[in-house]
Amino acid sequence: LPSIAAGDLTSDFDLTVEELQTLLDLAADVKRHPGHYRSALSGRIISLLFEKPSLRTRITFEVAAKQLGGDAILNIGPIGGREPVADVARNLERWTDLIVARTFDQKTVDDLARFARIPVINALSDMYHPCQVFADMLTLREHWGSVAGRKLAFVGDGNNVAHSLMLNAARLGLNFACIIPPGYEPNETIVAQAREFGQATGATVEVTTDIDEGLKNANAVYTDVWASMGQEHEAAERARVFAPYQVNTQLLAKAAPGALFLHCLPAHREEEVTAEVIESSVSVVFDEAENRLHAQKALLLMLLDGPAR
Ligand code: CP
Ligand code: NVA
Repeated sequence: LPSIAAGDLTSDFDLTVEELQTLLDLAADVKRHPGHYRSALSGRIISLLFEKPSLRTRITFEVAAKQLGGDAILNIGPIGGREPVADVARNLERWTDLIVARTFDQKTVDDLARFARIPVINALSDMYHPCQVFADMLTLREHWGSVAGRKLAFVGDGNNVAHSLMLNAARLGLNFACIIPPGYEPNETIVAQAREFGQATGATVEVTTDIDEGLKNANAVYTDVWASMGQEHEAAERARVFAPYQVNTQLLAKAAPGALFLHCLPAHREEEVTAEVIESSVSVVFDEAENRLHAQKALLLMLLDGPAR
């Protein structure tokens, strides 16, 4: 099986474009022929460390490990509270084969990777959500054949999901627009990196506060919660600022005809998206959720290549 040279997936930067393509191809194959991979991770145990709530990420990693012949152990709570993160890493590597971590701070997942001699996967941090976006790209590929030359518009907060989307879209030749209210821009360095990736593929990366402009010719419209986990105290202020950016039928009509609707979930109906849009025939949110499983199986296979220890 193909492997990942970086040895970890702490952010979207750990995969080369070729590895990203391979991961999506492998995910499609795992989805088509799950039986071929039934014992691929036989005897392997993965550690799941979650500092924040999760339905999709947690369950799909656990199901993935089990369906590949391995298993998963879950630990919920702060990482590095009782003891240094470096010690957590150097304990887990003695018992388990890989760490999946959902953290408040990107530094925690980076430190786990720095100190553990086993692969570490970012299962969402304040900066990135790569596992989500692999599933999203797989979903778009299934609907369109190829994502290259199409346009994806993200509407809402310039957050972790927006960052991972722009980095992967640009590398796959998918034009990207990030439509945000003033003051909620994505990280400038990440935008610059995404634009650099886009130079190689021809993909454009646009950041705008203008809804009409950003949605022009968009073949898919993506949104996420207005207040991410850890920002609950800002929810009221954000609800006010983001109100004009709600994805409803009128907003969706500004995109290209037949544009798909995506959301990483969980969704707040009548906040960032109306029930009408998320329940409509253009919504692919449950395909995205299903594809979390297949994409993460591919990721586990690529990171755990080789015989059991
Ligand atoms: N989309 C996503 O990551 O969902 P969970 O927070 O439920 O894992
Ligand atoms: N941006 C959201 C994504 C949840 C899957 C958050 O970080 O809470």
